[in-house]
Amino acid sequence: MFLEVQLAKAAEAIRKSSYTVAFTGAGVSVESGIPPFRGVDGIWSRYDPRLLEINHFYEKPVESWSLIRDIFYSYFKQARFNRAHEVLARMEAEGLLGCVITQNIDNLHQEAGSRCVYEFHGNSKRLICTRCGESMDSADVDFENIPPYCSHCHGLLKPDFIFFGEGIPPAAFQGSVDAANRARTLIIIGSTGEVMPASQMPYIAKQSGAVIIEVNIEPSRFTSGITDIFLEGKATYVMDLLAGELFP
Ligand code: APR
Repeated sequence: MFLEVQLAKAAEAIRKSSYTVAFTGAGVSVESGIPPFRGVDGIWSRYDPRLLEINHFYEKPVESWSLIRDIFYSYFKQARFNRAHEVLARMEAEGLLGCVITQNIDNLHQEAGSRCVYEFHGNSKRLICTRCGESMDSADVDFENIPPYCSHCHGLLKPDFIFFGEGIPPAAFQGSVDAANRARTLIIIGSTGEVMPASQMPYIAKQSGAVIIEVNIEPSRFTSGITDIFLEGKATYVMDLLAGELFP
């Protein structure tokens, strides 16, 4: 079976690698119940991404927060990490993975036990006051009354994730670039590769000589260009098989 051959090659590349990095997209969380942004039933097929422009957020905070609550806080509240997140956390614990660079804002890598996680697009679990900068846990915020305001200065609260038109958090960006440069093997899981600058990270790793492993249910923008080992299938299924190779 072709997948078995590919899995054995992937496991060998990971075992031989002095530093391995995972680069994850929305596809790694689909089996946790969080829809992807693109593709069948994707979030952007139901909502207009322009409503998540940063200027729109400040101009129409009620409308924007209504959408944010529907899209992110309704799905994320009951989402739990899945087998793919678990395997990455175990790989890190056993010294087979250096860090995760994630485009996701769902916090599921951390909840699965991953410790080195670069949040390229921020994290929905935290809200930030746009006036005093106070950070608070989304679990402590009442989303019945939107927009939510800061309990300290009554400033408008904003999710601590990146809106269209905002820059990438500098520490996450630099940490991701450094990790991609250092990677000898990089595993892409569940990303179309359509969004810059996040999608540059696998290319940086490739240019530095890394072996690129990709897990996806279908080819992405990465596949024909830089992927060396394509593991076709759902993230939980493939990562569970990979764990069987790495931890017999
Ligand atoms: N297992 C593995 N891959 C999957 C699965 C699954 N069960 N389900 C879907 N996929 C793949 C799809 O084939 C697709 O390649 O996951 C990818 C999802 O693509 P996107 O929704 O575009 O996700 P992503 O690449 O992470 O998007 C990047 O776009 O809107 C922005 O900020 C948002 O971080 C997001 C960024």
